[in-house]
Amino acid sequence: MLPKINPTSTEAWKKLKTHFSQMEKVHMKDLFKKDPSRFDKFHLKFEDILFDFSKNIITEETLNLLLELAEQVKLQEAKKQMYSGECINVTESRSVLHVALRNRSNTPIIVDGHNVMEDVNAELAKMKAFTEKLHTGELKGFSGKAIKHVVNIGIGGSDLGPYMVTESLKPYQVEGIESHYVSNVDGTHLLQTLKKVDPETTLFIIASKTFTTQETMTNAESARDWLLAACKDEKYVRNHFIALSTNTEKVVQFGIAEENMFKFWDWVGGRYSLWSAIGMSIACAIGFDNFMELHDGAHAMDNHFLNTSHGENLPTILALVGVWYNNFFEAESQAILCYDQYMHRFAQFLQQGEMESNGKSVGRDEKDVNYETGTIVWGEPGTNGQHAFYQLYHQGTKLIPCDFIASANSQNPLGDHQEKLLSNFFAQTEALMIGKTREEVIAELKKAGKSDEDIEALTPYKIFRGNRPTNSFLMKKLTPRALGSLIALYEHKIFVQGIIWNVYSFDQWGVELGKQLANQILPELLNGNAVTSHDSSTNGLINAYKGLKE
Ligand code: F6P
Repeated sequence: MLPKINPTSTEAWKKLKTHFSQMEKVHMKDLFKKDPSRFDKFHLKFEDILFDFSKNIITEETLNLLLELAEQVKLQEAKKQMYSGECINVTESRSVLHVALRNRSNTPIIVDGHNVMEDVNAELAKMKAFTEKLHTGELKGFSGKAIKHVVNIGIGGSDLGPYMVTESLKPYQVEGIESHYVSNVDGTHLLQTLKKVDPETTLFIIASKTFTTQETMTNAESARDWLLAACKDEKYVRNHFIALSTNTEKVVQFGIAEENMFKFWDWVGGRYSLWSAIGMSIACAIGFDNFMELHDGAHAMDNHFLNTSHGENLPTILALVGVWYNNFFEAESQAILCYDQYMHRFAQFLQQGEMESNGKSVGRDEKDVNYETGTIVWGEPGTNGQHAFYQLYHQGTKLIPCDFIASANSQNPLGDHQEKLLSNFFAQTEALMIGKTREEVIAELKKAGKSDEDIEALTPYKIFRGNRPTNSFLMKKLTPRALGSLIALYEHKIFVQGIIWNVYSFDQWGVELGKQLANQILPELLNGNAVTSHDSSTNGLINAYKGLKE
């Protein structure tokens, strides 16, 4: 059983509160001035990933107190419980074993007396055989042509992870295979995709843990109608549809034969599922060997997370620094800024990971929490974001800690593009930290030949207070292995924060109410009657919709 400790009741939390009152006015610029070895003290390396957390409003004392907090909430005990398959997703009565999916050392992991590695290995072997058939052209559509288009239909964890990885690893795309992702129930998403593919050469992957998700099943049924309109015979559905799911009954009911189903298990959370059969679209896109490299990278990070002391542990430090801002500085959000165009979906992937996992307000002790939990996560790739919302980082009233992520080597070297990209990466974290003082602004304006009057009027607007915290991740290159490690790093960061905030990170009851109400409203939209059963706003909106519908 996971520990049930209200973090605010720990000694460490109390000490952190006192410490915060000394730290809240401290400027990082002064910390750097005082200690030239700050970078040496506050950076860690993991394989080809450098993690610099020196540009944070922390001292060694802050870090030590945060590490005490990790001890006092029994983090190590909690980790061991997860890795050994204990039922830590209590509200759904499940183990949480994404680490088993990528357990490349194949050490047995026993759940209910059964070694789950046997199931994991069998399913991976089945995926390997299938992707090989696809890549050798053996997989044929109804007219005998080789499959060329792979359309993943799924949403949430059955889309965000696979889509993000496929995009991030585009340079590894298998020649001749084109990958597509459809998630939204808005018919536009499916129809726009169908315009790009050919029924004779298209494989639909229906990715859904439950195989009941409204959006996915609606898109899957429309895709099947589209295929049948072309092939005119149900018997060909088997050539064009496979399922990734835990729900055999529903898959068979849909018309997909069990042999065309790739299974995973209830101990795989949706937002942690890209390593399971849900990663089939990734394996189709980049090849099974690269998919395994991704697993290798994640497994190496899993070992690091479990076996390295908290103070040297990348996910743990990242999580602790996040708690420092979330709970002491009361920062409401945190940005993920990838200076690598291929990672343009990484922030959206983490949004589900972090917000669905730790967006909770009831503790593991069944009581309402009396402190802040899950952070708002958002972001766009650099440098685009710089020309959109960085203004608010630099001069706004809100504190937004940012994670900057970049690869040293571009997958597409082109003139000096990479140097320009990285000069911005380095410049932004420096600017956010040092800011610009009144004296510096005045000197600059004087140098530009401005009058005293102009200088007085302009100076306040040109001052940057700085002291905006950032973490920097610098990878050698965005390879499958490095990406695997990075994803696992963030997954474990989420775990650590969930343990500290004393919440259950692996359920998501908060998404249910909207689903239930949508199911009630759907039939009301399909008849011509005026609606009166809701509050006046919802009635008003529904009835207005009915009036507008052509
Ligand atoms: O939005 C809720 C959720 O259950 C997510 O946790 C999950 O990733 C997504 O829906 C999709 O679920 P499924 O894979 O069962 O279709």
